[in-house]
Amino acid sequence: MVMSGSWLRSIILASAPALVILAILHYQQSLSTWIVLLLVLAVVFGASIAVRRRLSAEEVVMRRLNRLTAEAQTQLDALSYKAAVADRIIASLPHPIFFLDRERRVVRANAVARVLVDSDLIGRDIADGLRDPTLLSAIDRVIDGQGSQTVDLVLPVPVETEFIVRVEPVDPPPGTPPGRDAPVVLIDMQDITALRRSERMRVDFVANVSHELRTPLTSLTGFIETLRGPARDDAVARDHFLAIMQEQSERMFRLISDLLSLSRIELEEHSRPQEQVNIPDLLRRLIELLSQKAEKVSVKIITDWPDDLPPVRGDSDQLFQVFQNLLDNALKYGAKGDAVTITARLNERRRLVVEITDQGPGIPPEHVPRLTERFYRVDAARSRELGGTGLGLAIVKHILNRHRGRLTVTSKVGKGSTFGVILPVAVTPQGNAPRPKSR
Ligand SMILES: Nc1ncnc2c1ncn2[C@@H]1O[C@H](COP(=O)(O)OP(=O)(O)O)[C@@H](O)[C@H]1O
Ligand SMILES: [Mg+2]
Repeated sequence: MVMSGSWLRSIILASAPALVILAILHYQQSLSTWIVLLLVLAVVFGASIAVRRRLSAEEVVMRRLNRLTAEAQTQLDALSYKAAVADRIIASLPHPIFFLDRERRVVRANAVARVLVDSDLIGRDIADGLRDPTLLSAIDRVIDGQGSQTVDLVLPVPVETEFIVRVEPVDPPPGTPPGRDAPVVLIDMQDITALRRSERMRVDFVANVSHELRTPLTSLTGFIETLRGPARDDAVARDHFLAIMQEQSERMFRLISDLLSLSRIELEEHSRPQEQVNIPDLLRRLIELLSQKAEKVSVKIITDWPDDLPPVRGDSDQLFQVFQNLLDNALKYGAKGDAVTITARLNERRRLVVEITDQGPGIPPEHVPRLTERFYRVDAARSRELGGTGLGLAIVKHILNRHRGRLTVTSKVGKGSTFGVILPVAVTPQGNAPRPKSR
């Protein structure tokens, strides 16, 4: 900024020589007073114009300088903002990410990466945290200038985790002094454990379905050949074989309808059912349906529930399917001639608990966590012999997921099993039941 004081000083300085000459001339009386006065005014006026011009040039330079400084500051602010954003992005990325210098030392690592190696590796060789030789040689190759590398990595502890690791060369940010601390390698680790698991499950599932269909198909083909060949004129054998063939086709039919039902339930799993279902009514209908089957194996069905159980919010057909499967299992796998008990009650968290207890052989504990897997059976031969598909409890699990419910299994070998279903109670118009909480 140009001050008015310095402006005045400049004018005085600029006009000083001329004023001194005029003063001398006036002193020697070479010029009249009026002319001297006029000349003084002219000199001061001229000097002021000259000074103003010079000062405004200075002002322009100053202003430009100020503007340049402000622009540089803005650019600096933008750069540090961008750096902060980049930092935040790297820090919040779900993949573990490391930056290494030429000596393979970690110069930067995001939060997940630090958790993964379980120590602060900053300033240390990455080999102190990740010892996999394939990964380390890929890093060395990138440092040697051989371009990006991709490595599969399995970390066995704490839980086995599979990664695809990208090792990329990076240019250090401008202004980073070369040598120590200049990042030259980026390691990006993508956790593919869930992906691989679902790939394996899909492959297993297709293999299981094929296997389940193949067995009855093979037997059907065999009997067709027999009927067309050696047993063509044997009426007794024909009846016998046709009965087996019917059984096998029914088995295939059951399998396909269970598969269709499972895929339909999975599709609907995220839409909450809307009906109000009265569970005691549903259980009574079910017992009526399965009473013949119970009589056949001489099993008595005992029921016990209070009269005032509130309804649950659900899909009545699907809930029927849940209890049908559990009661059917209890009759199939429970011991002959014993009783199966069905109880229902509200628990202390105001959830409806239905328990189906048999006095069968029970289930060894190592099998219990896997019972709801598709095609998982404790005794596959017995399940097939009894017409099971191995999909019943998988269907139960998916239906209960849709209902925000839960299946519990308690079993003692030699004593029997209890399959429990826990369901949230529907909110009544009076609002006296708790709103079901999602788990
Ligand atoms: N009440 C039970 N007692 C003993 N084992 C059972 C009982 N319920 C189920 N299981 C075991 O769990 C397996 C899976 O049951 P499920 O999925 O309904 O298939 P499925 O009945 O078609 O075999 C059965 O094959 C059986 O081994
Ligand atoms: Mg079953």
